[in-house]
Amino acid sequence: MSIQPMFVVAKSLDDHRAEIAAALAEHVPSDERSLLVELVADAFVDGYASGCRDGTHDDLIRWVDRMCDAHVDSPAIMTFFGNACSLLDGYLAPRGYAGAFRAPLRALERPIRKVLAKPRQSSRPQQERLDETDASINAMLVRLDAADPLTAEHSRAVAAWSSRLARRLTLPEAEITFVSRCGMIHDIGKVTTPVEILHAPRKLSDEEWVVMRSHTTAGERIVLEDPGLARFAPIVRSHHERLDGKGYPDRLRAEDLDLHTRIVTVADCFNAMIGRRPYRPPMSPTHALEQLDANIGTQFDKDVVAAMHEVVSKA
Ligand SMILES: [Fe+2]
Ligand SMILES: [Fe+2]
Repeated sequence: MSIQPMFVVAKSLDDHRAEIAAALAEHVPSDERSLLVELVADAFVDGYASGCRDGTHDDLIRWVDRMCDAHVDSPAIMTFFGNACSLLDGYLAPRGYAGAFRAPLRALERPIRKVLAKPRQSSRPQQERLDETDASINAMLVRLDAADPLTAEHSRAVAAWSSRLARRLTLPEAEITFVSRCGMIHDIGKVTTPVEILHAPRKLSDEEWVVMRSHTTAGERIVLEDPGLARFAPIVRSHHERLDGKGYPDRLRAEDLDLHTRIVTVADCFNAMIGRRPYRPPMSPTHALEQLDANIGTQFDKDVVAAMHEVVSKA
């Protein structure tokens, strides 16, 4: 893309900044909207325009990081940044901004998600924050139980398998708790999936699969609404990725998938195989382990699958 069109789009964003920022801030729930949110929205549009002019949005990403540090206890700011790129894209698309001018927004989504998921020092005491994390996770499970008790039951089981795997892999206690909590909320996005798709006693159509797969991105969005849970968001999004890059939603590859994600993925698939499903009877644990073995290196991590063998044999 030449410099000229990006300069033009930056000028146009500058000219309409107040109006665009107001439209973005509108999407933050009204009880959380504040002058701060409006200022942040305004500065975000400004930063995006400057980045278009400079050919890089690194400054904008660093600014988002600083804002998250400064407003670590403000859910509205996290909510805003979690949706800012897609909202700005959604605002610009119908107003004649060509796809090329909006392309940097798509490139920005991932670094911003990373920034949001960074652990941050809250100003509140640690115990208070830990209690709040548990309370938030419980609240998610209550939501899931109400929407689909089978998925809630599956989530509790995935939490237990994840924690056993992490222990078998000799991870520190804090990481065992982390993956267990990830397991608990990995499918929270299914609160948005219609039950007739979730429980279809047949193969899904292509369109239904698109909806089913969107539970990953929907889950990430839900989790990012709570700053105390933001660090779980990347795994909620990525638990259906595969080492060979054929997973979803981002087709990440092995080098992008950390051990925590690999643990939750194995725990999730194993429990899905041995659990009740509307369209097939449960598999035996031995058969499920064979399926894990058959997909080592393409879908699953070798060491995590080995740990699953040990966990099952000791169960
Ligand atoms: Fe899932
Ligand atoms: Fe799952």
